[in-house]
Amino acid sequence: MEHQAIIVGPGGGYHQVTLGSRPAQPPGPNEITVKLYANSLNYHDFSVVSGIMGPVESRIPMADGAGEVIDRGREVTEFKVGDRVVSTFFPKWIAGEPTGNGFSQVPGDGIDGYARSAVTGPITAFTHAPKNWTHHEAATLPTAALTAWKSLMVDDHLQPGQTVVTQGTGGVSLFALQFAKMVGATVIATSSSEQKLDRLKAMGADHVINYTRNPNWGSAVLDLTHGLGADHILDVGGPATLRESMTAARVGGHIALIGILTGTHGEFSFIPALLKQLRFQGVLVGNRSQQQDMIRAIEANDLRPIIERIYPLKDIVEAFKHLESQAHVGKIVLDIP
Ligand SMILES: NC(=O)c1ccc[n+]([C@@H]2O[C@H](COP(=O)([O-])OP(=O)(O)OC[C@H]3O[C@@H](n4cnc5c(N)ncnc54)[C@H](OP(=O)(O)O)[C@@H]3O)[C@@H](O)[C@H]2O)c1
Repeated sequence: MEHQAIIVGPGGGYHQVTLGSRPAQPPGPNEITVKLYANSLNYHDFSVVSGIMGPVESRIPMADGAGEVIDRGREVTEFKVGDRVVSTFFPKWIAGEPTGNGFSQVPGDGIDGYARSAVTGPITAFTHAPKNWTHHEAATLPTAALTAWKSLMVDDHLQPGQTVVTQGTGGVSLFALQFAKMVGATVIATSSSEQKLDRLKAMGADHVINYTRNPNWGSAVLDLTHGLGADHILDVGGPATLRESMTAARVGGHIALIGILTGTHGEFSFIPALLKQLRFQGVLVGNRSQQQDMIRAIEANDLRPIIERIYPLKDIVEAFKHLESQAHVGKIVLDIP
């Protein structure tokens, strides 16, 4: 038997995206077979599919997959047939400190991902999905949500009453907004558009700043915090945002280095970093145990993801063009028939 799959040719590029098939494998003793129903798009998947960081060999893309267990190996006790599951970004990083360096074990990049109708893999490649969530909702979690969770809750133990700065209205930033409000933090959110700022306010942002109209938005954060600065900044822009993030941070503040939306190289000002004793933390998503913690918190607080639009799997290129346009708010999802 064969499963339907999206395949990206070596090097990537939209012209190299085709619909093909892969053979179905029965589960080994510690494996499960999952009928996949949804993926969500991330900037990382975009860089693989578009060819910015294309695969060296033919690859099934997409790191985030959600579906239902349809078969299990004889030693599997954690999952049973019918369970709803969601993938893990690092199938081999189960708990504790990071073990790998880079994307060689990441589905949709170093190994085949989840843009396909079914997959057989180790139990560590999945966790249970949040109860009562649809597959489309669950597929939003592994990359964007866990990155926001790890930055705020694991790396910096966010406390009620602290102040968090988010940048833009992409997947990571909106989950960060939701987690920060969940624990009672104050959120200052930035965006390029007035309409999106209205959406951010409706989602609970306490203060909003248009970073296009106000390129010195770091000073605006200082004003909003009575000159103190924010406790935690999730930097998704990279070179063009880090300076403002450093201005926005309080003395001893935490800056999560998450994204590279404005490039991969830039200038670094050492003086403010030293004077303010800033704490910089490079982030690469998180481990399986952290995903389980996050899902427990999501269930306890009845959180729901913000989904911009759901495309059929066959329209994956159109979906990525939507992501590329940056017209979206939150997550773009693929429906797998
Ligand atoms: N390190 C990790 O573990 C990790 C994990 C996930 C993602 N990332 C990275 O984080 C970044 C965001 O990922 P994502 O999936 O959330 O992306 P996304 O959904 O595509 O979000 C893009 C949004 O970012 C905002 N943006 C763009 N340029 C900006 C700027 N100069 N300043 C502030 N906001 C800006 C825009 O929002 P507005 O239109 O509202 O301005 C845009 O719509 C990417 O670089 C991605 O590779 C890293």
